[in-house]
Amino acid sequence: MSDSADQKRPRILVTGGAGFIGSHTVVDLVENGYEPILVDDFSNSDRGVIEGLAAICGRALPCYEIGCRDKAGLEGVFEAAGPIQGVIHFAASKAVGESKEKPLLYWGNNIASLITLLEVMEDFGVQDLVFSSSCTVYGQPNALPVTEATPIAEPASVYGATKQIGEMILRDCVASGANHRVTLLRYFNPIGAHPSALIGELPLGDPQNLAPIILQSAAGMRGPIQIYGDDWATPDGTCIRDYIHVLDLAAAHVKSLDWMASQGDDSLLEIFNVGTGRGTSVVEAIDAFERATGESVEREIGPRREGDIEQIYASCEKVERVLGWKAERTIDDAMRDAWAWQGRLRNR
Ligand code: WQD
Repeated sequence: MSDSADQKRPRILVTGGAGFIGSHTVVDLVENGYEPILVDDFSNSDRGVIEGLAAICGRALPCYEIGCRDKAGLEGVFEAAGPIQGVIHFAASKAVGESKEKPLLYWGNNIASLITLLEVMEDFGVQDLVFSSSCTVYGQPNALPVTEATPIAEPASVYGATKQIGEMILRDCVASGANHRVTLLRYFNPIGAHPSALIGELPLGDPQNLAPIILQSAAGMRGPIQIYGDDWATPDGTCIRDYIHVLDLAAAHVKSLDWMASQGDDSLLEIFNVGTGRGTSVVEAIDAFERATGESVEREIGPRREGDIEQIYASCEKVERVLGWKAERTIDDAMRDAWAWQGRLRNR
């Protein structure tokens, strides 16, 4: 597309743009006429994602290798990019277990970077921010499905605490009258990959999340899946979560930008649960993988994992009503796409 066309596409800064959810959101931004500008320090993402994005999007995308605590670096990006319509902030550490071992890494990476980003946004007059939050802020809710009005619980991990504090920082910025417009997206459990298998979830090191563990077990890269407890008060005794295809989750970010752009210039802050509205147990998730791929995986019942909650899934009434967004893909679609991506990983 000609430079003049580039100039016309609204520019969106995507921090953590080479990450799992960030990269899939970059694709959705391009497909919806935006010009994403990526920022990533590659501390928890792979540079190969940039080539994958260029192949999917049909053009190279600007990517700056900086961390969001580097204020001068961020200012340089804002200066070089020209007028930026909004920011999607993914860059953060997100491993629940690791966060307990390395609290200073999590407070520094997740909070200091947010504050630096907000300072630069104010300096450059950039109002719109989509913030990557998490259903972990709810802890174990008393009533299901969780709505955005469900009380916030005591954080069960440092990771969860950083998401709660991040939301509080954003509330304060909006309340200050500094003209911020913020949407907080509380993710449930993102899984899947782009159907091209050119980008997907790239767990660096030993994965902790269920989906990559299923894939690695099916690929013979690890032993049987350990199901963390089958004595929970759920129909099949295993924990229940709301697994959402990463492409659907990506689309919710772009819908948030569209919606904020359609509002007046006043400050705003809106919270949205982004899930499917369906609860799926661990056993059902493993069964979905086998159904979708024709593969079989061995499973064993192990002890419960510390910090796990029994069940959580989203009410998506508000995000459907306000943003006009709804998850379109099933867990089977996600497992099929993830397996195709895993196959590509094996052949890399
Ligand atoms: C899912 C279920 C485990 C591995 C994640 C993210 C967190 C947040 C919420 C975005 C649980 C069970 C897992 C295994 C198992 N997302 N399990 N055997 O804990 O819900 O949290 O989603 O912010 O960042 O970490 O996801 O994939 O670790 O576990 O039985 O080998 O699978 O007990 O019930 P979790 P998970």
